[in-house]
Amino acid sequence: MSTGHETVPYLRLGVNIDHVATIRNARGGGHPDPLKAALLSIEAGADGVTAHLREDRRHISDDDIEKLQSKLHRPLNLEMAATAEMAQIALRHKPHACCLVPEKRQELTTEGGLDVVAGHNHLAPFVQQLVEAGIRVSMFIDPDRQQADVSRQIGANVIEIHTGTYCEAVIRQEAASVERELERIRDMADYAHGLGLEVHAGHGLTFDSVGPIAELPQIVELNIGHFLIGEAIFSGLDSSIRRMRALMDKARAQAVGQKSA
Ligand code: PXP
Repeated sequence: MSTGHETVPYLRLGVNIDHVATIRNARGGGHPDPLKAALLSIEAGADGVTAHLREDRRHISDDDIEKLQSKLHRPLNLEMAATAEMAQIALRHKPHACCLVPEKRQELTTEGGLDVVAGHNHLAPFVQQLVEAGIRVSMFIDPDRQQADVSRQIGANVIEIHTGTYCEAVIRQEAASVERELERIRDMADYAHGLGLEVHAGHGLTFDSVGPIAELPQIVELNIGHFLIGEAIFSGLDSSIRRMRALMDKARAQAVGQKSA
């Protein structure tokens, strides 16, 4: 798919279905089924699906990954920590992409970006084995140029910019912080793109915060989960994804207009 404008590529939407599994696991059993949510997401306009297999299996299970990989027939982005266990699972299933994230047992969600600079020695061979297996490897990092530099050095194909701090500023309606965080993300997107990395973004995005991120022409994929699944309680999953897709497309069209003006 294309926007028809060569300098502003199509913006893909990856829907993170972790919290469908969170609700399922609250009662055990199989309902609601993350695979069903994944298929519905694709019908509603998602280009792929993201699932985070956590060390403690608090939401997505090994069986979910197996089903998603065999039955989705669309890109699966497997989010995971850089552990030996996760490497084995990724190498067995060979998803389209792996997004490496930091993981702490007590955290409610991924709290900050991966420190690729500090973790260089461990991450370099880890990334290499996945890339050699034909998996696209993405590093989930804060908007910091040094993190992008080292991500590229160790052979990652992609960086995903952590948008959490920006999104929190939007919720608090702190205009100065919003602008400061946006500027960091803009700089990072431009810098990483210049390094030849594919640029993604995500974490905390909502209908209110997605526009300025979707406008950035270097970003080619957004990964969005919690808000879409929460909003589905009120309007249905199909409607929440369609509305997000429409907001992304509208922002992208504005970016095309700005480029060609
Ligand atoms: N990208 C990454 C790397 C994440 O860890 C998460 C959260 O699981 C997301 C995107 C999606 O964030 P949210 O659920 O807040 O939309």
